[in-house]
Amino acid sequence: MIHGGNPALELDGVCAAYGPYRALFGVSFSVQEGAALALLGPNGAGKSTVARVVSGLVPASSGRIRVGGSDVTGKPAWAIARTGLSHVPEGRGVFDSLSVEENLVLSLRRRAGRRNLAASLERAYARFPLLAERRHHRVGTLSGGQQRLVSLAKVLVVPPRVLVADELSLGLAPSVVDDVYAAFADVRRSGTALVVVEQQVDRALGLASTAVVLEHGSVAYVGPPSGARGVVAQVLSRRSRPGSADRR
Ligand SMILES: Nc1ncnc2c1ncn2[C@@H]1O[C@H](COP(=O)(O)OP(=O)(O)OP(=O)(O)O)[C@@H](O)[C@H]1O
Ligand SMILES: [Mg+2]
Repeated sequence: MIHGGNPALELDGVCAAYGPYRALFGVSFSVQEGAALALLGPNGAGKSTVARVVSGLVPASSGRIRVGGSDVTGKPAWAIARTGLSHVPEGRGVFDSLSVEENLVLSLRRRAGRRNLAASLERAYARFPLLAERRHHRVGTLSGGQQRLVSLAKVLVVPPRVLVADELSLGLAPSVVDDVYAAFADVRRSGTALVVVEQQVDRALGLASTAVVLEHGSVAYVGPPSGARGVVAQVLSRRSRPGSADRR
């Protein structure tokens, strides 16, 4: 595993809001090249907002974000993508009416070049056999989980500097989740830093070198994965107490 010792992604006191609703309060953490960070927390804690802020889809109202040492705070999403940060969002990022293969080709041509197209397609299918089986199916007929797999396959053709994956395993069969985690391990070896948002705490902690637990938009824990499990349990028990605020 490459641990270059250089931070691939750094957040420093990041705050963000949706209109008047404040969603993040001074979030700070960093991920080194080739390292993996598990971003955990209950529903509504702000995990997807962190993913959107670092990829430029939601602006930071204060704080700084750096990718590969460069300040990207306030930059548009396309400019941040150019610095090497790829975000596989919650939900879809695919064209419903096109087949799996057409979706892959569109993106592979752009990312890997026309000449490498056939080889890149084969690599994607070798990595995710489920996509090979469905290569001629319209993406709109796949499950939500399978659609996210198409998004991931597109991104992984050229391993990014930072990959932010938001609940990729949701709705996928365990064997397919194994494929996803094997792909994560692969891209880490090529130096990609991972930020993995997960509800399956054990999966994420098994992969991660660092864990961050969010609660109501603030960092409740940042440190080694071994310490995160207890914090996640505490946060969840606070939420389930009668009268506790569920802000969803
Ligand atoms: N587009 C939006 N407009 C207004 N509020 C939003 C929007 N998106 C998220 N929020 C609110 O911001 C807070 C954080 O949401 P976020 O989606 O980041 O949580 P999450 O940790 O990803 O949750 P989940 O596990 O359910 O995906 C929540 O209270 C949510 O209701
Ligand atoms: Mg989310």
